[in-house]
Amino acid sequence: MLAKSFALSLACAAIASAESSAAPSFTASVAPAAETVASDATPANVALFETEKVQLTDNVISDLQANPGIAEYAALFEFEDSSNSKLRTRARRVRKSLRCKTMPGDLLYPSKMVWGVFDLLLGGALEKIVPIGSPCYKKSEYNNYNAEKCASLVANYNQEEIYYEDNGALMNPLYYGMTCPIPASGNFASGTCTQGGYSEYAVKISNVAQIQLAVNMARSLNLRLVVRNTGHDYNGRSVGKGALSVWTHGLKDIQYVERYKSSSYSGPVFKVGAGVQGFELYQAADKYGHSAVAGICPTVGVYGGYSAGGGHSPLMQLFGVGSDQVVALEVVTANGRFVTATPTVNSDLYWALLGGGGGTFGIVTSAVVKVHRKVPVTVSQWTLMTSETVSADAFWEAFKFFYDNFPTYNAAKTYSYFSLMKLAPGTYMWSMGPFFATDKTVEEYEALIKPFYEKCESLGIKLNANTTHYDSFYPAYQATFGGLDYFVGGAGATPGNRILPTENWATKDIRNQTFAAVRNAVENALMLNMYHQHAADQEKKDVNSVNPAFRNEQSMIVAINLVPQENAAGWKAAVENLNTNILGPLRRVTPAGGSYGNEADIAEPDWQQAFWGKNYPRLLKIKKQVDPTGLFYVHHGVGSEDWVVDDKGIVGVQSTDGPLCRA
Ligand SMILES: Cc1cc2nc3c(=O)[nH]c(=O)nc-3n(C[C@H](O)[C@H](O)[C@H](O)COP(=O)(O)OP(=O)(O)OC[C@H]3O[C@@H](n4cnc5c(N)ncnc54)[C@H](O)[C@@H]3O)c2cc1C
Ligand SMILES: *[C@@H]1O[C@H](CO)[C@@H](O)[C@H](O)[C@H]1NC(C)=O
Ligand SMILES: *[C@@H]1O[C@H](CO)[C@@H](O)[C@H](O)[C@H]1NC(C)=O
Repeated sequence: MLAKSFALSLACAAIASAESSAAPSFTASVAPAAETVASDATPANVALFETEKVQLTDNVISDLQANPGIAEYAALFEFEDSSNSKLRTRARRVRKSLRCKTMPGDLLYPSKMVWGVFDLLLGGALEKIVPIGSPCYKKSEYNNYNAEKCASLVANYNQEEIYYEDNGALMNPLYYGMTCPIPASGNFASGTCTQGGYSEYAVKISNVAQIQLAVNMARSLNLRLVVRNTGHDYNGRSVGKGALSVWTHGLKDIQYVERYKSSSYSGPVFKVGAGVQGFELYQAADKYGHSAVAGICPTVGVYGGYSAGGGHSPLMQLFGVGSDQVVALEVVTANGRFVTATPTVNSDLYWALLGGGGGTFGIVTSAVVKVHRKVPVTVSQWTLMTSETVSADAFWEAFKFFYDNFPTYNAAKTYSYFSLMKLAPGTYMWSMGPFFATDKTVEEYEALIKPFYEKCESLGIKLNANTTHYDSFYPAYQATFGGLDYFVGGAGATPGNRILPTENWATKDIRNQTFAAVRNAVENALMLNMYHQHAADQEKKDVNSVNPAFRNEQSMIVAINLVPQENAAGWKAAVENLNTNILGPLRRVTPAGGSYGNEADIAEPDWQQAFWGKNYPRLLKIKKQVDPTGLFYVHHGVGSEDWVVDDKGIVGVQSTDGPLCRA
């Protein structure tokens, strides 16, 4: 009883009453807790989707308070700014007195009863997250061993789909702590499967009210909250131990508006749900004879992490980066309210949401995005390898010539993605996959690339490039990027990246020094995935918070380092080696460069500067304004220096597998 009265004195009464009371009785009018608002007009100038008209409003809260069966729980779902509740004040005090977010097993963690009430109010959208690998384990609390399911997971572990269709999985699994990995072969795994750093519960979102209920409950009860879309995140930022997860993947609406007009933009737009993935956006644009901006990987979510973190694209040289496409957003903020953000309405929030990173400033439900003209493309692919006829010197001389010409290729508004690998000492491979020459005929492309072809010829290199023209973007994309293997699901390698700025091509000297660091990276890494890319200038400066280095780049390098053995010591060594021997020299030679936060090294040093440069102080100020209680936390996100996750070094690098506490 002592423990109980202690809890009572700390926790809000709703938790305590849930411990004791019998099942609450509901009237039809409170479950689910939502109303369909009458007006669909918003300052975004495109009507709300049906999913967005279903909201948690002050009326709904009043109904909860007035309903005898539910009144005692109502406070859990109140807005941060609502006027009356003593309980709300108490919740704030509880939050302040507790250093850590409340975890499963903690005295103040909601009881089954509270989760049951929450699920009723959600209309049955609450799901327990069970680790994706669990069907492979005979030993686990989930009791779901299934040899057939396990074999299928083993066969498909590198397919993005099994992760984005799951309610809680990560494509880069290392960062939840590897407590339930899919085994490499067979149909079972030895060992015990546990939840680790995966979130605890998911709300499978199909309307805005559900997001508001989750936000308000997590804030009132001091729960860890995360936002998850596809699970593509490189640093585990869409999961968290003990967290309540808002899963936006189901928000799939796409609506075309031919003549859009706002104070910042006129022209065709799509209004797109936050769950829309790259391939869905590309298909929709193609259907209307247009093109739109998303990433190279078809399954990345466009309006979750991608646009929030910048977003590079095979069309960025024509239309700007992902963040630049967004003219308005609908978003649930940390106080539970549903608001619109545009360059003129909630303009700070708009600025921060586009560049400041996912899962940090609010939960986006939809975006109004620019749609562009049809774009013809010439694509070219080749593979160059050292061989009896191609010496390592010739290989590097050819590649250096290509590299020196990045500013020329960028000025011609083209893009490329390729890999560089050391196969064995002195043996190298360069796979161009593809050079993406937008707005170019084959002749125009060949005129641009001719000096490089001639260089190869002079070195006795036969390139055998395969060059094809497409009269629009989507088929060109499908024939190239759309079919690539993106190597998800494994933990045998760790990535990090560096943005190489224009300055590093300014003189022969600095080009040489930079190139030496690139070559060193090839020598030491498993592989480099590299781009020549440069975003089209935007009409207005500082229209959003995208990393200034990202706008000033000529190239980006994603370095992938091999993990010597898959255990904590191996992962730790791999990340240290990545930082010391691979990215270290690249960082030192690019002081005006930075790092792309969406494909980041888990241990990026000086990350505030690397991801945001001069934008960081303003981002931090906005973060404190829009999320004063610290509801939204992601690893290396804006404001995350106030928090620590003590994972006891389970995988040797920072994972989500520990309590989230104030630093
Ligand atoms: C195979 C692969 C290929 C990639 N290719 C590219 C590329 O070509 N170009 C590029 O720029 N990037 C690329 N990326 C990186 C990609 O941009 C990031 O992983 C991005 O964060 C993914 O966003 P998501 O919403 O799909 O993923 P998630 O892992 O679900 O979420 C990522 C982050 O966004 C937050 N978030 C998700 N939904 C919302 C929401 N509705 N509101 C607010 N926050 C939200 C999450 O909390 C998390 O912090 C690639 C990644 C992978 C794994
Ligand atoms: C050439 O490239 C195209 C993609 O643009 C591809 O479909 C085709 O199969 C390639 N041809 C050869 C011979 O590799
Ligand atoms: C750059 O490197 C090339 C090849 O390594 C070398 O021939 C040239 O002299 C170097 N130039 C400068 C300015 O260092």
